Amino acid sequence: MPDVSSGAVVPPSRRAIDRDASSGSLPRPLTSLIGRESELAQAKRLLQGSYLVTLTGPGGSGKTRLCIALAAEVAGDYPDGVYFVPLAPVRDPGLVPSTIAQSIGLQDARDRPLMEHLVSQLRERKLLIVLDNFEHLLAGAPVVTELLQETTALRILVTSRSSLRVSGEQECPVPPLAVPDQRTPPTPESLAACNSVRLFTERAAAAVPGFSVSDENAAAIAQIARRLDGLPLAIELAAARVKLLPPEAILGRLEHSLGLLTGGSRDLPDRLQTLRATIAWSYDLLTEGARRLLGACSVFAGGADLEVIETVCDAAVDIGLPVLDGLQELVNQSLMRQVQSSGVPLARYAMLETIREFADERLDQMPEADRIRAAHAAAFLAMVEAGGRPQAGLATKEWLERLDTEHNNIRAALSWYRRHDPPAALRLAASMSAFWSLRGHHTEGRQHLGELLGLVPDASITRVSALNGAAWLAIDQGGYAHAANLLGESIGLSRTLNDMVGDGIATVYLGRCKMSSSGSRRGRGTWSAASRSSARRGIGRRSRSACFTADWSRTSPAGWMPHASSSPAAQPCRPSSAWHR
Ligand SMILES: Nc1ncnc2c1ncn2[C@@H]1O[C@H](COP(=O)(O)OP(=O)(O)OP(=O)(O)O)[C@@H](O)[C@H]1O
Ligand SMILES: [Mg+2]
Repeated sequence: MPDVSSGAVVPPSRRAIDRDASSGSLPRPLTSLIGRESELAQAKRLLQGSYLVTLTGPGGSGKTRLCIALAAEVAGDYPDGVYFVPLAPVRDPGLVPSTIAQSIGLQDARDRPLMEHLVSQLRERKLLIVLDNFEHLLAGAPVVTELLQETTALRILVTSRSSLRVSGEQECPVPPLAVPDQRTPPTPESLAACNSVRLFTERAAAAVPGFSVSDENAAAIAQIARRLDGLPLAIELAAARVKLLPPEAILGRLEHSLGLLTGGSRDLPDRLQTLRATIAWSYDLLTEGARRLLGACSVFAGGADLEVIETVCDAAVDIGLPVLDGLQELVNQSLMRQVQSSGVPLARYAMLETIREFADERLDQMPEADRIRAAHAAAFLAMVEAGGRPQAGLATKEWLERLDTEHNNIRAALSWYRRHDPPAALRLAASMSAFWSLRGHHTEGRQHLGELLGLVPDASITRVSALNGAAWLAIDQGGYAHAANLLGESIGLSRTLNDMVGDGIATVYLGRCKMSSSGSRRGRGTWSAASRSSARRGIGRRSRSACFTADWSRTSPAGWMPHASSSPAAQPCRPSSAWHR
């Protein structure tokens, strides 16, 4: 079972590619790979002869699974590592470069465009990047071409429902698993070598220990595999039902729902119809509460932990049963899976992308859809803002990893708020600015803050905080003139609002801005004056030192480090808007 939410974790202090991240980057399937010997050999050959190989096939045909097996097999050929980049939860093609950068442990560039930085880090390296689920980001395909054109030894392996259609791409179709030959009488012996039947049997045996193909059930199992076109995901869904029904009964119900489908959307490719019918069939057999829970859970981008799922459900939808029971039902039916994620101690639940698309359509039909999306956004706003409260503790590795894990959910919340409640979007973006800085998402952060500051011009403390956050990110990237403008506005506004803390922080940042732009010791006087002034304005030592500690470790001009006696005490940093408040 691939951990769909996994990706490399980006340590804040590492600037170059994080070699250590590669080993933990490939998801580890918990079940064995069935068949695929010839496909693996073919894909391996193609990867030896081409810098860009795209595994294509319909949803649920086993592209990701094959890709992980291939990447693990060839890992030894890539001394600089193999990096897995899950793209399914990413909605904006413009985020392809930063998602790749994050997954390989590379922070956003401070003084040049991210792509340039990425290319410079990858230019001579022999590494393999796996881009999983590219089909909805095709507009971002030129990024892949550019990376390959500008580097010498990089190879990219993609999974996508359609090819990227860029030059140099080698497509490698992933067919479904072989199905039993209709002309051979189905017996346990004749079916033993058939991969779709092996998959059904293995998954059924995982649900019902001791399950096996017998003379009695062989014909039904063979027919199930044929009716499902050998599609692995459809077969897994069907096999999950053996707990309740024998294969003959499963076949009967399956025939019924597949039959119903032929009256439906004929323009869809056959295999897609089969898969959708199988998901619909599993869905129809759920209890009403679990159905509603499945729809609600599609709101999560890249999964969510139990606590957040409960929070969203409690606020927005009555599923009529304990959330944990509903999740258990969904896991039992293979519609959701439990995954592990760094920084999240609680059980985390996620859906395969094909199932999420289906569930999202169900969510659209639910009367509570807007409430659920609003509750999702509110839950992540609360989560991010909680990190800004002093009592929430200091920035820990775990906290940053938590935000890494939830970054796609936070992006979804931001996008919801931008459309429905722009002031809340500004709050969220302001609270995220420290994370964006620490984790190297400068370009993305500046873009969000810039847009939202334009969208929400009202004078408010949130605006002060957002201006300070945007200025901090701009200074990180060497945008001193722009940062000075932002800070000028922030200081003026905070004085009008009598926001002493915002004013003090902006003043400190302005000192940092001048110091960084002068790039020498001469700037230190400016900083000291700003620092004294901030103390007068009521900013505690910790806030100031937090700002600067973060700064020293990441942004001091080369060759310039503060003397121990004059630098702020090295204290842990709080990853929150408190920095900018
Ligand atoms: N050869 C195989 N052996 C065992 N399990 C498999 C195999 N192929 C696929 N599966 C399982 O089938 C399910 C669907 O496979 P996978 O996620 O790889 O499909 P996909 O083509 O990547 O789908 P999508 O287009 O939605 O991303 C997964 O649970 C996967 O583990
Ligand atoms: Mg996939």
